[in-house]
Amino acid sequence: MLEIIKLSKSFGSKNILDRVSLTVSDHEIVSVIGMSGTGKSVLLKTIIGLLVPDQGQIILDDQDITDYSEQQYNQHVRPIMSMVFQEGALWDSMTVGQNIDLALKIQKHLTEEERHKRIHDSLEMVGLPPIQDQYPEELSGGMVKRVAIARAIATQPKYLLYDEPTTGLDPVLSNMINDLIVDLNNRLGTTSLIISHDIPGVERISNRIAMLYQGQIVHSCNAKDLWRQDHEVFNQFIHGKAEIK
Ligand SMILES: Nc1ncnc2c1ncn2[C@@H]1O[C@H](COP(=O)(O)OP(=O)(O)O)[C@@H](O)[C@H]1O
Ligand SMILES: [Mg+2]
Repeated sequence: MLEIIKLSKSFGSKNILDRVSLTVSDHEIVSVIGMSGTGKSVLLKTIIGLLVPDQGQIILDDQDITDYSEQQYNQHVRPIMSMVFQEGALWDSMTVGQNIDLALKIQKHLTEEERHKRIHDSLEMVGLPPIQDQYPEELSGGMVKRVAIARAIATQPKYLLYDEPTTGLDPVLSNMINDLIVDLNNRLGTTSLIISHDIPGVERISNRIAMLYQGQIVHSCNAKDLWRQDHEVFNQFIHGKAEIK
């Protein structure tokens, strides 16, 4: 279980996260929605230890990881938690295989042969042919997203954080990525936290949906009850209304 308790983060005088609390239970898919620039990416980067929170706690499997050092994150958190970055974040100078191998090399117990198999299997799992020798610039946008997911799942993590996995993709590819997220949850038993603007997509694949607004989780609900909420800001957002500031 991932528990985020009253997490705050500012940059200079800008309070981005203001006592954010959110729990993701084992095997759940929880989506966080919210307008651009509200701190959704900051939230995920703080959870995975790329940003240091000012206040609050992050509890992972009953362990308080909030004050973990970089070394502790590498040792105890990143082997069980992966993030799919918004733009894929692949290294252009490395092949697909080398990109995926970077994540695997953190796990010192894997032999080279085992790492090769993990690279092959993770590409297969996201529906890609064995393209480990190609470079990111040779791939389409949808393929880059899938390679980013393959890299994230290669370590067989218990937790997956997805930052806008379908943004910029056409509806067919978006559906494919959404189906893949559910499939991975079912097949690998992962627990997923997704950031997304794709309201029909999150409605279809999430268990719960939470809205980040002005630094706080202002509302959350079961996905199946998405259209029956009694919360003005939440309803305006999911209906795409412009009144909210
Ligand atoms: N490393 C950083 N340093 C300073 N400001 C940042 C940093 N990362 C994000 N921000 C600011 O935090 C705010 C929220 O950003 P972000 O989490 O990327 O929003 P989004 O909800 O669109 O993902 C933005 O105003 C952004 O400029
Ligand atoms: Mg973002």
